[in-house]
Amino acid sequence: MNRIVVLPGDGIGPEVTAQAVRVLEHVAQQQGIELECVEEQIGGASIDALGTPLRDEVVALCRQSQAVLLGAVGGPAWDAMAVDVRPEKGLLKIRKELGLFANLRPAAVIPALADASTLRPEVVKGIDLLVVRELTGGIYFGEPKGRGESGGVRRAWNTMVYDEHEVARIARVAFEQARLRRNHLTHVHKANVLDVSQLWMDVVEEVAKDYSDVELVHQLVDSCAMLLVRDPGRFDVIVTGNLFGDILSDQAAEITGSLGMLPSASLATGGFGLYEPVHGSAPDIAGHDKANPLAAILSVAMLLETSLECPAGAAAVRDAVASVLGAGHRTADLLLEGEQREVVGCVAMGDHVLAALGDA
Ligand code: IPM
Ligand code: MG
Repeated sequence: MNRIVVLPGDGIGPEVTAQAVRVLEHVAQQQGIELECVEEQIGGASIDALGTPLRDEVVALCRQSQAVLLGAVGGPAWDAMAVDVRPEKGLLKIRKELGLFANLRPAAVIPALADASTLRPEVVKGIDLLVVRELTGGIYFGEPKGRGESGGVRRAWNTMVYDEHEVARIARVAFEQARLRRNHLTHVHKANVLDVSQLWMDVVEEVAKDYSDVELVHQLVDSCAMLLVRDPGRFDVIVTGNLFGDILSDQAAEITGSLGMLPSASLATGGFGLYEPVHGSAPDIAGHDKANPLAAILSVAMLLETSLECPAGAAAVRDAVASVLGAGHRTADLLLEGEQREVVGCVAMGDHVLAALGDA
């Protein structure tokens, strides 16, 4: 029996995960996978009900599971809270406690939606890149950190720190991914300023010796940000630390123009992973059946592929999504300006994907 912990979270999280779970259960049945989905709380929902963004019991349950499917966390209701008790803390805690060090964020242009990007079509054409972001180290977790005051002057500090093992293991994940794709890896750094980046340079070069079939390029983070909008087609796999990866993965997602379509995986060693849509909790549309569940559904494809080792199920989900879009079904976020189409809601989009998957 495969246990999947479902953490719907806040905003549109519960709506999109509900559709994703329907799809997961349907495909599991088709593929003969025994599945048990257990729902728990995280983020603002957990703060309101239980006084903490993530209970230790939930972390323990995740440890006894195959994978976690997460919706989204956060929203204006909790924005005024201190960093240590905010909904986002639940996310950081689950990443750290479960050792989810490898964050995979693919950003590809879906042909049917190519016009959705704010970039010119000839720039967007063929974007198919993968950001591999280190997720449990760097400035997000480094010590010392804190705030203080001396002589009437307020100060605050965080520490960007990586050891060579942390760098080597994420570099290996990135090289392996590059091998599955177009054999090209861009390491993003700030080695002209940061000692941490100089260590990354050295270690990535050392790991590269085992991957002579993969072409490696080192790129400064500021120029990478520029190239991502000027010539995104040049990128295949990008590997970088936690903070740069946070920023560049949002940028990479947005240039596709279809944030509502992008899944992600956060992996530990040994196949365990947490899967979530890249889009946030979108509190403005929450509760109105307007959300696009496809990013959550495509996250299920990643879950099937990696944590349940069922590539056939993953392919079935991706094919179903492509055929639903090909048939012209669109949630509101996917509608182009001036486009005259009937808009479907979150549940109806889930229905269409289930129909495209065929009988269980
Ligand atoms: C992300 C988010 C999180 C991060 C926040 C919500 C803590 O922006 O997953 O990219 O910074 O990692
Ligand atoms: Mg982010």
